[in-house]
This record gives sequence, structure tokens and C-alpha cells, in this order.
Amino acid sequence: QTLKQALKDNFAIGTAMNAWQITGRDTAATRIIKEQFNAIVAENCMKSGRLQPEEGKFTFELADQFVEFGEQNDILINGHTLIWHSQAPRWFFTDEEGQDVSREVLIERMKKHIHTVVGRYKGRVATWDVVNEAILDDGSYRESKFYQIIGEDFIKLAFLFAHEADPEAELYYNDYSMAEPGKREGVVRMVKKLQAEGVKIDGIGMQGHIGLHHPEIREFEKSIEAFADLGVEVMVTELDLTVLPSPWDDQGAEVSKNFDYEDKMNPFPDGLPDEVVDAFNARYLEFFGLFLKHRDKISRVTLWGVADQHSWRNGWPIRGRTDYPLLFDRDNKAKEVVSHIIQ
Ligand code: XIL
Repeated sequence: QTLKQALKDNFAIGTAMNAWQITGRDTAATRIIKEQFNAIVAENCMKSGRLQPEEGKFTFELADQFVEFGEQNDILINGHTLIWHSQAPRWFFTDEEGQDVSREVLIERMKKHIHTVVGRYKGRVATWDVVNEAILDDGSYRESKFYQIIGEDFIKLAFLFAHEADPEAELYYNDYSMAEPGKREGVVRMVKKLQAEGVKIDGIGMQGHIGLHHPEIREFEKSIEAFADLGVEVMVTELDLTVLPSPWDDQGAEVSKNFDYEDKMNPFPDGLPDEVVDAFNARYLEFFGLFLKHRDKISRVTLWGVADQHSWRNGWPIRGRTDYPLLFDRDNKAKEVVSHIIQ
């Protein structure tokens, strides 16, 4: 049995794809994707800086190949992401003198970007992460250039432009730290407002970059429930589980209590010790147990990558580490936890 077969009555199971996988050079990962997953998302190639590095010059080669891969293999395609403060090109916000553009100009640029991208894949990319990471952990709006120049309306406008370009596409809001109570409340507030204004928003993506001890699973569950109560789909969109301490969550961590993350970049040079593997398995199973419990609310669970060697978590939040966050190991073999998820 494969992951997608085992989970098919519960939710779609997806993965992010990087350039090597999209172009077919990483044959091992590409084989795993076809075998195990029924949803894909572009890890980087659909971000605004990649699609429109210069004003009016769109580069669609990789994104086109990504969409073709999904179509050829009958896989659900998610577009990530139209409006995000990060990995956006500098020109987007500035004029020739390097000054911030006016509200009108930025709205026009947003509109052109969204219309061009969503329009190109109309009827082919089923779902879009329209806005990514607009709200902070305390529930207030992030002071991004979009927010500073346009105000909170940039969110509504992004959804309206996406809807204009493909009325059939499902439109999502995506963010991290969704288990934080303040963030949860801020997202609920924002979505309610959009709904009250008649804006089409179909779902909320919870990124799910988790650790062994953070977040508290009960807080994650409360957010699933709060988001589902809004009448939208809930998705876990970027799941990975770091076994390394993070600057903000290593206090109480059993496995990494005495770990000095400044000095010891790679605490497990010979691979993960048994007790860390046990903790890793238990944590993944706890979360998959939660997703299954709420399968009536959750439409998709997407891993942020296939195998450990490619995970962005080797470089985040600290560069140059060796992490083990995904379901397939550095030999592209399914980890033990996969057999438990499938059971
Ligand atoms: C990450 C990619 O995985 C990296 O390759 C890239 O260098 C930076 O972005 N939240 C998101 C994702 O929504 O787009 C980010 O992806 C991870 C955090």
C-alpha cells in the first residue's frame, strides 16, 4: 500500500516539488511522487520573484513543466503563492528612483501579476495560495510593503483579482504558526471580514513546520476547529518535523536539552539515535492521528518535500545543518513511520 491509497477516503496527500523533481533529474524523488502522492505544490517556481523577475518579463518554463507533470500524472495541482512579501522582486514595490510606488501603482502591479499567472493556468491549476503570511502571531497585520502601501485591502484585492482570472479556481489563505492563539484569532477575524464583504475564499492552509515539542497539538487542533467553523476547507500545507532545536523552542525539549545550537550544527553525525527516531515517529503519528480525527474538515495534507536531503529545514532557521524532517530518508527510502501512517 502507498500513502495515497491508504489515505484516499480521508484527505489528499501531497508534496512540494523542487526544480530537480519538476525537470525529472531527481528520478528517485519523481518516482516516489508518482507512487505515493496525489497532490503537488511548487516549492519555489511559482513565487512572484521567479515568475516575474523583471516588470512585464514573465518566466514560465519551470512552472509550465510543473503543471504538465501534475496533468500527466493526474495529480491535484496547487499554485503557491501569488502575493507574499518574501521572494517577491524588489521592483514590485519601487519606482525608478527606488522610492515606494503609490497605492494605485502597486494595486495595478498586483492585478497584472495575478491576472497573468492565474489566467495562464486557468482551468489547469485547481487551487491557489492567493495570499501567504499576511498576519503576525499576535493577530495583527504584518507590516509588509503590500500592507504599508495599500493597507489591509491588499488581501481582499488579491482574492478578487484571482477570482476574476479564474472563477472556478479554489482560493486559499496560507500562513505559519497557526496554532498560536493570537494568529488563530487574527486569521478568523480576517476571513470573516472577507466573507462579510462577499469575497470568495475557499480555504485556509496551515503550514505545519513543526518541531518535536512545538506547537502544542491541542492548540493546533483548536485552529483546525476554528477555521472549519468558518465554513471553509482546512489544509495542512507545508508539513515537516524538525528534530533539531530552534532558537525559540528548545527550552523544554527532551532530546535537545543540552544542545548548543550555536556550536553544534549537526548533533547527529551518525544518523538519528533510537530515542530521537522514537520521538519523531510518535510526533508524526500524533499529528496524523489528529488529521484523521478531523478528516471531515481537512481536505489535504501536504509535506514540504519528499526526502530529507532536499528539505529547506537543513537551512532554516539556521543554515548548514543536517535535519531529518520528512517521510523519506536520504536514500529515498520510506521511513519506518510511513508504515505506521499507512496502517
Ligand atoms: C521555502 C522553500 O522551501 C525554500 O527552498 C526557499 O529558499 C524559501 O522558501 N513558508 C512558505 C514557503 O510559504 O514558500 C517557504 O518555502 C517556507 C516557509
